[in-house]
Amino acid sequence: MIKIGVLGYGYWGPRIVRNFQGIEGSQVAVVCDKSSEALRRATQAHPHVPVTSELSEVLTSTDIDAIAIVTPVWTHYELAKAALENGKHVFVEKPLTSNAAQAEELIELAERKGLKIMVDHTFLFTGAVKRIKQFVDDGTLGQLYYYDSTRVNLGLFQHDCNVIWDLAPHDLSIMDYLVMAEPEAVVATGANHLNGHADVAFLTIYYPNNLIAHINVNWLSPVKVRTTLLGGEKKMLVWNDLEADEKVKVYDRGVQMMTGEAVYQQLVSYRTGDMWSPNIEQIEALKVEASYFIDCIRNNKRPFNDGVAGLRIVRMLEAADESLKNRGKVVKV
Ligand SMILES: NC(=O)c1ccc[n+]([C@@H]2O[C@H](COP(=O)([O-])OP(=O)(O)OC[C@H]3O[C@@H](n4cnc5c(N)ncnc54)[C@H](O)[C@@H]3O)[C@@H](O)[C@H]2O)c1
Repeated sequence: MIKIGVLGYGYWGPRIVRNFQGIEGSQVAVVCDKSSEALRRATQAHPHVPVTSELSEVLTSTDIDAIAIVTPVWTHYELAKAALENGKHVFVEKPLTSNAAQAEELIELAERKGLKIMVDHTFLFTGAVKRIKQFVDDGTLGQLYYYDSTRVNLGLFQHDCNVIWDLAPHDLSIMDYLVMAEPEAVVATGANHLNGHADVAFLTIYYPNNLIAHINVNWLSPVKVRTTLLGGEKKMLVWNDLEADEKVKVYDRGVQMMTGEAVYQQLVSYRTGDMWSPNIEQIEALKVEASYFIDCIRNNKRPFNDGVAGLRIVRMLEAADESLKNRGKVVKV
């Protein structure tokens, strides 16, 4: 039995506790939060799980194998460092840290201590993203042209980071997983209207081979939208994560250019074939991810969403911040 201490029982913490409690081979040994109200909620939901407001109790417990860090971004580095120094594996929320130097230090520390870091890039464990990854890898879509994602709703406002650090890690980690290529440059624009942090932002990421990604993140949208378009040379797809069924639709559509002898003879032919919706696995992503974390610890495997993967996302976020400050300057990653 791998025993987990969970730090943070705010919005996301209850999902982490429920999933680590609900899988075979793991048990939540303690929930720690600074807030007594959070601890009261934890006890109500899980009467048999001990709670504490004392971090040191979790860090020094010889009973605990791993610590899940589900606290605000600015606390991740200190908490993860303390966990690793005390010999605990780390499951940490996205984004891994507030800057790349912190992430590099954690990676080095975990390596030295022979411990795992897994970053909760939850979407990589969804049935939809796994299916889309298959379409990319088996060539169904052909060469990728673009990734265009809208991830907007009203709130939830974070107080320690802007909307890019809150919502864009999802799309950045999905792109990182799908294309397995380092981006070349990032451009970000945005504006803050309420609490000093950008609450509306638009990111463009340039990848090799003319692949471009655009991500629209917004805490001030009247409606929730979670729609991604992925365009390829052979096929295109639409992923609407809010659909209960038919989340992913693949379109046999495209454009072909045939050039005649003179420029004015350029011919454009449009292909408008069938649309189909593949079957998508319906298991809760966090459950799959929690099981994977336990498997990585037990069998000494390196998670693919490890600290290094987390660092790649933090580097893109840092580049986005620099671009945002300079009203859309092109920043090399
Ligand atoms: N993977 C996802 O899809 C997803 C979704 C939402 C949030 N998150 C991530 O989860 C993390 C937490 O977000 P949230 O929305 O739950 O925040 P939140 O503010 O709702 O909750 C954070 C909790 O941590 C507690 N806390 C703060 N510092 C602490 C410390 N040093 N020790 C113990 N407890 C402490 C707070 O009292 C609070 O209860 C963030 O990193 C966020 O990016 C991930």
